Amino acid sequence: MPQTRHAMLVDTNHDELSSQYFVAALKSHISSHVTGSSRTVYDRRIKPRFAPKDRHAARKALGTDGHYQMASALKRTAQEMMWDAVGVCVERQLPDLIHRAQPNARERGTLRLNPELVVPRYHTAVDIHCMPGGYHSEITGDDVFAGALYDRGIYLFSMGLRGELNDDFGQSLVSWVKQNYPTFQPKRILDLGCSVGHGTLPWVDGFPSAEVHALDVGAPMLRYAHARAEALGKTVHFSQQNAEATDYPDASFDLVVSQIILHETSNKALPRILRECHRLLKPGGLMVHIDGIDWKTLDPYDAAVPDWDTYYNNEPFIGPMHDLDLPALTAKCGFAREKIVYTTAPSARRARENQGRVELKAGDFGNVGAFMVLAARK
Ligand SMILES: C[S@@+](CC[C@H](N)C(=O)[O-])C[C@H]1O[C@@H](n2cnc3c(N)ncnc32)[C@H](O)[C@@H]1O
Repeated sequence: MPQTRHAMLVDTNHDELSSQYFVAALKSHISSHVTGSSRTVYDRRIKPRFAPKDRHAARKALGTDGHYQMASALKRTAQEMMWDAVGVCVERQLPDLIHRAQPNARERGTLRLNPELVVPRYHTAVDIHCMPGGYHSEITGDDVFAGALYDRGIYLFSMGLRGELNDDFGQSLVSWVKQNYPTFQPKRILDLGCSVGHGTLPWVDGFPSAEVHALDVGAPMLRYAHARAEALGKTVHFSQQNAEATDYPDASFDLVVSQIILHETSNKALPRILRECHRLLKPGGLMVHIDGIDWKTLDPYDAAVPDWDTYYNNEPFIGPMHDLDLPALTAKCGFAREKIVYTTAPSARRARENQGRVELKAGDFGNVGAFMVLAARK
């Protein structure tokens, strides 16, 4: 399935496309034929010796096995190769991409940047999922490098499984809200941690009469997101802010959403973000977050597989987040216990492909048939 072309997407010449497809094929081979057989290693070489009680014990036991070590090294190498393959291509045309992202008089949405914003340490301390420079680093004036890298890189990372516009998380959450709150018609929507707007644009389509706002800490993400939304004909108001403490007045929004950001924050930031959602919502408003399926629902081996990212893919908070009791934390952050929903939602893409039926398949975070949803009404 090819990625949908738009005016901001990098062009790829023959050699660049060839190296990108090579990395995608390598990642696919590793996940189907190399890491896949770690299950056999676990069943035949580990479980007969002892039965790991949780994912931590399973991961430690796997870590002593030569097959897991080899698979792990290959996965890490392929991840770095993927960013390199896309990075070369973005660098070649960066001046042109910056030119394409310049504001023009025909724009529908807005972009508000804040050069004074302090980027949180959980972004500056590591390059999340090994993406060079993370979401926020700027290498030149009016930079869009990180945005262009992320848009193409995530498509290769997910091997196209997040859809032609990388928007399966957004599509899935919009569908879930519509099914579970059929009469809910938000007038103002805020998307926290929007990156390049993959998950933001489905809200524009899902609620065409709503005003859609989106924020992120990364300026190069937001410049790219704004230009991408304009190129795709969608009106969004982007703003550079920290979701822990925004500058919007109390009760500004009917719906506050986030899509796969919670696991990239920290133990201190997450409750602040939940409290901020509560402050920003109007009475009766709805908060919804979508992230990878709750590892507590998986067996120790299946939970140890995505826990690889905690230790070897610069996602230091993903494991700790899965140890939290998110509904209890949400209640501590101001939401009434009886108005909190914590559930599993199907992937919109998988449901479409299977004509409405979704098999909940565990263990492959990021490309799965099901996600975790945390929702609460104020
Ligand atoms: C995995 S990406 C999210 C992707 C996007 N929501 C989507 O649906 O495709 C995480 C994003 O959240 C942003 N982010 C993380 N913590 C944040 C915070 N405290 N405030 C604002 N943005 C944040 C990061 O800069 C990054 O762009």
